[in-house]
Amino acid sequence: GAAAQSGCLSATFTGGRTFLKCNQLPVLGASLHWTYHAGNGTADIAFRAPSGADGWVGWGINPSGSGMAGSNVFVASQSGGAVSVLTTILRTTAPTLDNTALSFDVPVPASAEYAGGAYTIYATVALPGNTTSQNTVWQAGPISGGRISPHPVSGQNLQSAQNLDFLSGTSTGGSNSRLHRRNVSLSVSSLIASLIKQL
Ligand SMILES: *[C@@H]1O[C@H](CO)[C@@H](O)[C@H](O)[C@H]1NC(C)=O
Ligand SMILES: *[C@@H]1O[C@H](CO)[C@@H](O)[C@H](O)[C@H]1NC(C)=O
Ligand SMILES: *[C@@H]1O[C@H](CO)[C@@H](O)[C@H](O)[C@H]1NC(C)=O
Repeated sequence: GAAAQSGCLSATFTGGRTFLKCNQLPVLGASLHWTYHAGNGTADIAFRAPSGADGWVGWGINPSGSGMAGSNVFVASQSGGAVSVLTTILRTTAPTLDNTALSFDVPVPASAEYAGGAYTIYATVALPGNTTSQNTVWQAGPISGGRISPHPVSGQNLQSAQNLDFLSGTSTGGSNSRLHRRNVSLSVSSLIASLIKQL
């Protein structure tokens, strides 16, 4: 909706890229920009999130549920100023970040850049199941000793998931990972309560 778009509409991208829609995501200062192509079920996406040079960010889709486990993700990081992006499937909540093919097609492989204190990840994905409603996740965490290290497991880092309809731009959630649901159920209910108040 308009509120979700207000923070992201002025973003610009390298390489002359433009995107039809964007949502300012509810946590971690991140935004998702995309163009959905109904004819072939793909979405060109740009995910942007602030980070220090000593951090990583990631975005992905969970085709098999909600939350972290099962998510297919793009992770951008850097070493000595060289930015790279890997794709991996988070098989558990303590995953090995092996660079592996995702369970859905990525017709335009991901690339990433770091500028102005933010990473941007670009990719084109074939939306799993050729359906526009997808469970999405995003994250930010530290690089330590040259390695992508676990993200914090508190606060905003547990609220960085939502269902997004790539056709309408409507999102629901801002939800926690399934694993942590029990422990943060209070904050989720208060989040839902405040969302209902805004409606
Ligand atoms: C999907 O359709 C769009 C719009 O017609 C086109 O630009 C793009 O190249 C297509 N992608 C694939 C992977 O066929
Ligand atoms: C995805 O669905 C659209 C209709 O919504 C259809 O035109 C397209 O062929 C489908 N693409 C694939 C890869 O199944
Ligand atoms: C929930 O919190 C308790 C106590 O803080 C902790 O022992 C437990 O491991 C947590 N469970 C999950 C699923 O995070």
